[in-house]
Amino acid sequence: MNDKKIEQLIALEKARQKKSVNLIASENYVSADVLKALGSELTNKYAEGYPGARYYGGNEYIDEVEELAKSRALKLFKLDPKKWAVNVQALSGSPANLAVYVATVPANGKVMGMSLDHGGHLTHGFKASVTGKWWKQIPYGVNRETELLDYKELEKIASAEKPDIVVAGYTAYPRIVDWKAMRAVADKAGALLHVDLSHVAGLVAGDVYPSPFAYADTVMTTVHKTLRGPRSALIFSRIDERKLNEKIDKAVFPGLQGGPHMNQIAAVAVALFEASKPDFKKYAKQVIRNAKALAKELSKLGWRIVSGGTETHLILVDTWMNGKGISGKAASDLLEKNNVIVNKNTIPFDTRSPVDPSGIRLGTAAETTRGKKERDMVVLAKRIDKILLPRPTATPYTRDARTDFPSEGKSSKRGGTKHL
Ligand SMILES: Cc1ncc(COP(=O)(O)O)c(C=O)c1O
Repeated sequence: MNDKKIEQLIALEKARQKKSVNLIASENYVSADVLKALGSELTNKYAEGYPGARYYGGNEYIDEVEELAKSRALKLFKLDPKKWAVNVQALSGSPANLAVYVATVPANGKVMGMSLDHGGHLTHGFKASVTGKWWKQIPYGVNRETELLDYKELEKIASAEKPDIVVAGYTAYPRIVDWKAMRAVADKAGALLHVDLSHVAGLVAGDVYPSPFAYADTVMTTVHKTLRGPRSALIFSRIDERKLNEKIDKAVFPGLQGGPHMNQIAAVAVALFEASKPDFKKYAKQVIRNAKALAKELSKLGWRIVSGGTETHLILVDTWMNGKGISGKAASDLLEKNNVIVNKNTIPFDTRSPVDPSGIRLGTAAETTRGKKERDMVVLAKRIDKILLPRPTATPYTRDARTDFPSEGKSSKRGGTKHL
């Protein structure tokens, strides 16, 4: 590179990634082929419009790339192209969710989404997001006792509030979502069911997490989390008399964007090709095994796992434990000093602030890509425990005091869904 400064910064970031343990639940490591597509000449091309109907010339091969990405996306999620359409142009998850609302929710309409502090995403109608300014959020959360979704409670909210759209699928919910029950929630309001599959899409593609497509009207997923692709998003919609697919295409372009990022769409196609291989199923299975092993060992060491365990790649750890432990920020900072990268996270009914919440969120997608197995997770849990002890902001307490926190076994009796 002639730009020595950027070359150096890329090298430094590469070295940082190499030396650290990456437990950020929304990150992963893409293949060399995905990187190659991202860094290809396709970035030079303008292609406003859709295949066969572009506003620029020279899109012969670009059209093929986009069609390939679309057909691979439908095939990966076992969808009939006569019944489902997919838009691959949204630049990332947030603009993709926005496009779905622009296409389907009237101005000042209601978006029923999980609150941020319970595990929803900003774009599920949070007040600081444009999705909470243009539409009214009807918030929901998990049950205080079980820390799980209570579908009957959600039905009551939907019946009373009559939202236009119900958003299911989360940022920090470590359990299996009952998609059929979420359909029933939407039906109580005559609302659309929009599934945000971003976190678990790779697990669905790998057949280790239930698919929502039988129940949803629209499904959005990012490509860069468990699906292990470039930063991007897919928006699936049912093809029927409601013309959701046409409305979504229009909302993406020309509604919200100009030219699609064709190098990114090519990289999406590569990632979808990789996710369709048998090795990806093994990977997805291992991601969940690793998360369960990590959660179990942390719990054994006395840390409180929100909802008592995990059925995904994601673990929410209550590090604060009502003042007996360490705050999420202090935990995250301490871990980072020791090259273990996590993010601080609120826990349901958090009594602390989002800038220094009660928990941390861990995920195993990235480290599983690096070949880690259950035994590595046990070692990692012990390393995390050691780093967090002694805790600078904690009131002193003994290991014995932590033994009454729920264990994995106890939690499944409390209503955790059967593991797949
Ligand atoms: C559930 C969910 N939806 C949407 C997004 C937004 O994706 P992006 O960061 O690509 O805008 C995220 C990102 O973390 C997410 O977790």
